[in-house]
Amino acid sequence: SLPKQVKIVEVGPRDGLQNEKENVPAEIKIALVNRLTSAGFQNIEAAAFVSPKWVPQMATSAEVMAAITRKPDVIYSALTPNMQGFEAALAARADEVVIFGSASEAFSQKNINCSIAESIARFEGVAKAAKEHGIRLRGSISCAFGCPYQGEVPLDAVADVVGRMRDLGCDEIDIADTIGVATPRKTQAVMERAIGEFRVDGLSGHFHDTYGQALANIYASLELGISIYHSSVSGLGGCPYAKGATGNVATEDVLYMMQGLGIDTGIDLDIVVDAGQFISQFLNRKGASRAGNAIAAK
Ligand code: HMG
Ligand code: MG
Repeated sequence: SLPKQVKIVEVGPRDGLQNEKENVPAEIKIALVNRLTSAGFQNIEAAAFVSPKWVPQMATSAEVMAAITRKPDVIYSALTPNMQGFEAALAARADEVVIFGSASEAFSQKNINCSIAESIARFEGVAKAAKEHGIRLRGSISCAFGCPYQGEVPLDAVADVVGRMRDLGCDEIDIADTIGVATPRKTQAVMERAIGEFRVDGLSGHFHDTYGQALANIYASLELGISIYHSSVSGLGGCPYAKGATGNVATEDVLYMMQGLGIDTGIDLDIVVDAGQFISQFLNRKGASRAGNAIAAK
């Protein structure tokens, strides 16, 4: 049977907006996070303390974190590739820091400018500091289902990085389909290997929807008992270092499916639809969520 309850991590303010060419002012990001907070998410990825030369859109992260209206018990997460990022996240009072690696050597070089082994060594300091400060630690693994640069990614490579993230003390580990190439059976094959290395209730599915497979892959993951999913309001997004990759699966679509399956998320879909309309209007484009557009048109 499927999980009765799932946690949806809203990643729109970070993964969704990081790739936007036009600058999105901090006040828009702040308003978006506040709307998402009021929708009832337990966890919102709101910031990335990365090099502004690499990802200019995230340069406002400290400003955003300082000005959002926080709800107690909501986890506001920030990406931290190294100690410089960790120090910034600490100063910004992030509730959770995210170390992000890859199961693909080629992608690791392109995204964070080092090998997988070097990244793990770099993450050790961040992990230790997070523990010392009592901050939650999440590990994200890109290209677990395929890589834009090297193509196939072996299952053993995924299992190896999951084990390394576990050994670093991660509270949660994301299995990410950066370029949205997975299909349901492939998803299950990868998730089964991840489950072999880490507790199932600490694993999450982070699916981009490039090939329209994300909802099917979430369903396939639900069948294995995975109960944490990442999604982006209005389907915003794409990774700057994954050419052609489109946004994360749209939050509205995921919520609509969960409602239909009788799975509790604790999130108010109508407020999410409004938040999606808000950000789509700012970006001057139609939102990418099918459910969101249908509900908004009613
Ligand atoms: P590097 O150039 O190798 O780093 O970049 P460095 O240590 O040599 O530093 C170079 C410069 O960057 C220095 O500045 C540092 O101060 C600065 P300069 O002296 O030249 O003026 N710097 C920083 N600035 C701000 N915050 C920091 C920081 N660190 C160094 N934390 C680095 C290495 C990792 C920093 C760089 O490659 C980088 O920032 N990459 C960001 C990549 C990124 O954000 N990608 C998108 C997020 S990951 C993603 O989207 C995937 C995910 O969604 C899952 C999925 O879908 O797959 C999570
Ligand atoms: Mg992503």
